Amino acid sequence: MNYFEIMDEMFSEFEEYKDINKGKGIRGKLITIINPDAHKLAAIVESIHLASLLHDDVIDEAETRRGVASINAKYGDFTAVMLGDIIYSKAFFELIDFGKDIAKIISNAVYLLSQGELEDVKLSKNINTDKAKYINMIYKKTASLIEASCAAAALSKGYESEKFALYGKNIGIAFQIVDDLLDITQDEKILGKPSMVDYFEGKTTLPYIYLLEKLDEKDKEKLKKNLLKYLPNLFHLVDLWYYQLERDRKVPRQSEEYYR
Ligand code: FPP
Ligand code: MG
Repeated sequence: MNYFEIMDEMFSEFEEYKDINKGKGIRGKLITIINPDAHKLAAIVESIHLASLLHDDVIDEAETRRGVASINAKYGDFTAVMLGDIIYSKAFFELIDFGKDIAKIISNAVYLLSQGELEDVKLSKNINTDKAKYINMIYKKTASLIEASCAAAALSKGYESEKFALYGKNIGIAFQIVDDLLDITQDEKILGKPSMVDYFEGKTTLPYIYLLEKLDEKDKEKLKKNLLKYLPNLFHLVDLWYYQLERDRKVPRQSEEYYR
């Protein structure tokens, strides 16, 4: 059985699970490239990742994930959080069989990614222009589990893990930078989730940090004001919907007035 089939078997009794699109399975792919016999380990890591996305979509109030309705949108926040907990706990139960070293690597990554998520929320409350803080946050939020996937797969194959871990860390950081770029450059159809979310949530991802460095003082203040504008506004989702509607109709980017 491949790792997706193992996951389907692990969670077959939960009907809401069937509505989840499991996505590209990048972590599982990396694990099974390093150790082709490690499909169970890949299923465990993909399950942990899935659980974290169920929680993330509640935090982000996301309506869609991977091109389908998110579990929180379809069944409500409670179900999404509890399903995340079920998937996460079952994955850890299975992880124990891989021994102390691998279990420690993976559980430390979950500790880091939870911190990364909290830092992401905190950084978005103000305008962050510090690249090191951004890189550290995306390392924890995204790259830590990819780093741990590569390290654990290497250990399971009897290889030394350090170089695999470094490869996973760097690929994870690059992956999140690209994800943050695509949020700006692509539309919902391509992304499988709404675009421009970072802007409306006041998240100064790397493109915004560079943009803020380039702008003159007047435009810098204008952008900062706009990035913060939507945060306390309960109706920002309507703005987001309006923005996307306009863009999907292939209307050129909003007039300056709209952003003011
Ligand atoms: C996606 O970020 C989120 C993550 C990669 C990690 C989220 C982690 C948690 C919610 C902690 C989970 C804790 C446990 C114990 C399972 P994003 O919002 O930038 O990406 P997106 O655009 O794909 O939503
Ligand atoms: Mg999110």
